[in-house]
Amino acid sequence: MASQPFFQTLPATIEWRDGDLLLLDQTRLPHEIVVENVADVQAVWRAIRELRVRGAPAIGVAAAYGLCIAMRDATALPVAQFRAELEAHANWLETARPTAVNLSWGVRRMLRHARDTDASDAASLYRALVEEAKRIHAEDQSLCEGIGEHGMPLIREGSGVLTHCNAGALATTGIGTATAPIYAAHRAGIGFKVYADETRPLLQGARLTAFELQQAGVDVTLIMDSAAASIMSQGLVDVVIVGTDRVAANGDFANKIGTLGLAIAAHHYGIPFYVACPSSTLDLHTASGARIEIEERDAHEVTHLAGRSIAPDAMQARNPAFDVTPHMLVSGFVTERGIVRAPFERSLRTLFAAQGNAA
Ligand code: MRU
Repeated sequence: MASQPFFQTLPATIEWRDGDLLLLDQTRLPHEIVVENVADVQAVWRAIRELRVRGAPAIGVAAAYGLCIAMRDATALPVAQFRAELEAHANWLETARPTAVNLSWGVRRMLRHARDTDASDAASLYRALVEEAKRIHAEDQSLCEGIGEHGMPLIREGSGVLTHCNAGALATTGIGTATAPIYAAHRAGIGFKVYADETRPLLQGARLTAFELQQAGVDVTLIMDSAAASIMSQGLVDVVIVGTDRVAANGDFANKIGTLGLAIAAHHYGIPFYVACPSSTLDLHTASGARIEIEERDAHEVTHLAGRSIAPDAMQARNPAFDVTPHMLVSGFVTERGIVRAPFERSLRTLFAAQGNAA
């Protein structure tokens, strides 16, 4: 069984094994290790929608393999019909979640590859799709390493680092995005402390970030989301590093709900605020954060905790899964090609003009 970097005891977030797609069920962590062999494309859609696989880069990789699952029993079809079915599955798979651009990035890249492949039969087109999904998977791992290399200097001996949600190894197929500088600094023997926000309502910080950092031997302390500003006010945080699900052309970005409040608090206390992301999370077609679609999830996730109601019966609740932080609160984007600083409109476009998501 393939395992995730650092976690010899944990299965990989995503594994392609002999034509099967295996997903580590992130809703069961940290106390249960369950791997799902995803039967069909409907199950891939549900796994994304229900957060069994989550985190922007991991969603992109899962979607790429998801299209292989969609087409694996269609290799006897005439090639034109195979292509038409592929396109229909791709359009549908993209609807699983709206905010993480990596989902449509992965799906669109697979479609582009299919279009560019001159195949005379469906079986060879299917093989080409599997190879492309494996490339997306391998690239994701090296993008994380690049982010780690460029972000490591942000973490100095004795620093306090605050992060939100899980932009960790579990959200990718490598060493994570926000956690990449953390793991790189830890590997380099630097001593520092991480504060992990618990991340209401689904507790990705408590269940996933705290878990994976602890497994890796990083000094991590779990805090309530509502404690973050107070921890900052005490001088315990030298840098905030978060992940993102979509970065607009002007540098506004979407991330897990609560990120905006952290950015405002960090600005108030003069704490550098960095956003770690691979180029697959850039959406230079979207001009600003105002145009990013924010996923609104079921109110039940807010009114219930671990299956039990914590609010009056029939309580109304709002559950926006993400918020948008304006670019003026961002010190820099830590990417696989280096740290991108303001003015973001120009710097992002210059560095990533050749990427698939660039306009
Ligand atoms: O709803 P989730 O758990 O998919 O939200 C994930 C996040 O907000 C992460 O910070 C983001 O995807 C960055 S992933 C490296």
